[in-house]
Amino acid sequence: MPKKLYIKTYGCQMNVYDSERMAEAMGAEGYVATDTVEDADMVLLNTCHIREKASEKLYSDLGRLRPLKAGKPDLKIGVAGCVAQAEGAEILRRMPLVDLVVGPQSYHRLPAMAKAAEAGEKTVDTDFPEEDKFDHLPDRPTASARPTAFLTVQEGCDKFCAFCVVPYTRGAEVSRPADRIMAEARGLVEKGVREITLLGQNVNAYHGAGPGSDGGGDWTLARLVRALAKVDGLERIRYTTSHPNDMGDDLIAAHGEEPKLMPYLHLPVQSGSDRILKAMARKHTADTYLRLIEKIRAARPDMMMSGDFIVGFPGETDADFDATMELIRAVDYGMAYSFKYSARPGTPAAEKTPVPAEVADARLQALQALITEQQRAAQRAMVGREVSVLFEKPGRLPGQMVGKSDYLHAVHVRTDARPGDIAKVRITGSAPNSLAGEIATK
Ligand code: SAH
Ligand code: SF4
Ligand code: F3S
Repeated sequence: MPKKLYIKTYGCQMNVYDSERMAEAMGAEGYVATDTVEDADMVLLNTCHIREKASEKLYSDLGRLRPLKAGKPDLKIGVAGCVAQAEGAEILRRMPLVDLVVGPQSYHRLPAMAKAAEAGEKTVDTDFPEEDKFDHLPDRPTASARPTAFLTVQEGCDKFCAFCVVPYTRGAEVSRPADRIMAEARGLVEKGVREITLLGQNVNAYHGAGPGSDGGGDWTLARLVRALAKVDGLERIRYTTSHPNDMGDDLIAAHGEEPKLMPYLHLPVQSGSDRILKAMARKHTADTYLRLIEKIRAARPDMMMSGDFIVGFPGETDADFDATMELIRAVDYGMAYSFKYSARPGTPAAEKTPVPAEVADARLQALQALITEQQRAAQRAMVGREVSVLFEKPGRLPGQMVGKSDYLHAVHVRTDARPGDIAKVRITGSAPNSLAGEIATK
């Protein structure tokens, strides 16, 4: 009987990618994945530290595993990801049922740690090792039953925004060599992947060593995108998350010239107030952001914009918040994520006096209402248009498939298309979180 591994993933897409790589590494040790926690021989929680609520989930989920472990003493419990990095051995002290704690830069050592756990030894590894973990992980054996895949090309962050834990949990900004990325991408495409989303905490700051070079960071993200676009069978390329200060002219040009590069861009700005942006240490203004978007839309007029916003950053006044609302109106987002500021241990902003919770709550509500309005309008504007849809899986109704449009809208279509097929679809209707369409006949 093979051992069974249950992984729960919190946080961003990079954690989703890491979970896949950890499952593959454990697969090489004879573990098979399970979706049923009760069946597991090992439970791995791949955690997120970005906001307080995200972090606290780890401890409530660990609490819920107690009865399972009591009835199954051989069950091993591991904590991976950004809370593991931030809290390390503290997790073992607070939660004795945990057997191992592994950070996002050292999880190639997970199989050895699992073996130690089986021998009754508890281990903590939150190193930022010299070696590249990706060189010590198996090639993507079980990837991917799906037509879309994530591929991490860059990790870490050197920007130290005043609110953010990522530079501490993920470490310094590092780009993977271009030839390794190309090889991984080709391998994914051979397994049926049609769309790859390149990932990085600052993905557009990518500066990897080009093939044959001895370590210099001479490839930009634009160059990587153009090289990937030449891979036969790969039909769509996306990337996330980008920083406004790293949006190079070559990348903007690629959006105008490379049809495989999809017209959807997640470009977080956080606030529309220059005073707050300065306090956040973002090193850009609202105006530079707006001009950047003009430039992007000049290259690709139908670009669907997405963003992230924080409300209630320490010192945010009504006027600052109004400036954010004004910026949102000026950009007209197709999608956006918004968060109430959460003070994170060890970050500079955590020292400052917080905005009262009820003020922050009211601002979040107002901002989310505006974003929802824009999102619905962007969806309604699709009705009557023809888009391309990459089908991913059966839809809710019999005979239906669901996939994503170029603009990342979920689209439900009655069709006998199979996962991985791409078709031209005419959009016929818009529901709150998805579109309906029919196969466009020529
Ligand atoms: N690298 C990306 C974002 C990474 S974190 C970037 O620079 O844009 C994802 C989002 O979480 C951020 O864009 C921000 O909006 C939000 N976030 C980060 N730290 C936060 C905090 N302390 N409180 C609330 N939201 C936060
Ligand atoms: Fe965090 Fe800022 Fe780095 Fe983004 S750029 S990961 S928000 S520190
Ligand atoms: Fe969370 Fe770490 Fe991603 S803190 S958002 S899982 S980089």
